[in-house]
Amino acid sequence: MINTVSYRFDNDKKILFLKIIDQRKLPERLDYIVTADLQQIYDAIKTLAVRGAPAIGIAAALGLTAASSNYKDMPSAKFVEKLKKDADFLDSSRPTAVNLSWALGRCLRKVADSAKMSYSTEKLWDVLFKEAQAIRDEDIKMCRKIGENGAVLFDRLGMNVLTHCNAGSLATGGCGTALAPVYVATEQGKHPEVFADETRPLLQGARLTSWELSEEQIPVTVICDGAAATVLKSKKIDLVIVGADRIAANGDVANKIGTYGLAVCAKYHKIPFYVAAPYSTFDLTLSSGEKIKIEERSADELRSFSGRDIIPDKAMVFNPAFDVTPYSLITGIITEKGIFSPPF
Ligand code: MRU
Repeated sequence: MINTVSYRFDNDKKILFLKIIDQRKLPERLDYIVTADLQQIYDAIKTLAVRGAPAIGIAAALGLTAASSNYKDMPSAKFVEKLKKDADFLDSSRPTAVNLSWALGRCLRKVADSAKMSYSTEKLWDVLFKEAQAIRDEDIKMCRKIGENGAVLFDRLGMNVLTHCNAGSLATGGCGTALAPVYVATEQGKHPEVFADETRPLLQGARLTSWELSEEQIPVTVICDGAAATVLKSKKIDLVIVGADRIAANGDVANKIGTYGLAVCAKYHKIPFYVAAPYSTFDLTLSSGEKIKIEERSADELRSFSGRDIIPDKAMVFNPAFDVTPYSLITGIITEKGIFSPPF
């Protein structure tokens, strides 16, 4: 399985480096970014070199650990102060996926608790590193569980699944969320087939979902976003599974722009619509999806395609990165604890 976010420790310099696949280059090139520089880690998240809700949480936790390995010689109170400042900076890189602030908050709380016990800076850093590793290790296990819980759906509903964006191994520490049932079912000797929306404007479906599934020899057919309704109508699809960036307490789900339209279409054509996500994606402080902050990204992502300007300068552009699917359109939420059905 592809390892999106990892690290490397330089024993001579005593510096930890975050190591991530540069997803902007896929599928043409499999390049890595190896860095302990806070600004570069921020930029990697902001520009989607690393992306997908769980993966950005893990990258932020390991990234904070990497950046702070540069200032382990600070007195512990100053170290904790600087850590908080750096965590706030990383947290400001992307607003919608809750996993980012969840992972950073978890690291800061752990360090703050240890600081109360008068730990040295070196020891505080070790605590931080262990917590970041735990976040990643837990995510790997949760993905697996989501996969096991979701794989049974293929027996009941059929093998053809449509997905949107990329919620696979490139988006998590493990085998993904929406794609986890596909990987586990394949291991179990079933033969699921995936239809992947290309996912304009950054083409996570066309570039990433199709790449990682092809690497594992799993059949995948890419369709343009506008073809999804027709493909659902043609009855080629047995179920839809998508990931999530934040799930409100009532079950409303924020996910990649286009998910809402897909859910409306699935409901119209009576095709089960599932969301797959770990507990770190639930935000029970928000009563409904209306309260989820939706990231708006640069117009440039739409204005050009393949290096060519495609929209006249005088035309305006609106580029929300996510939308909210109301809980009433969702058949079930596949989690590591089982499949939740309405009422959520
Ligand atoms: O903008 P992105 O590529 O980070 O958006 C990713 C998604 O919308 C995914 O579906 C979601 O984060 C779940 S990833 C397991």
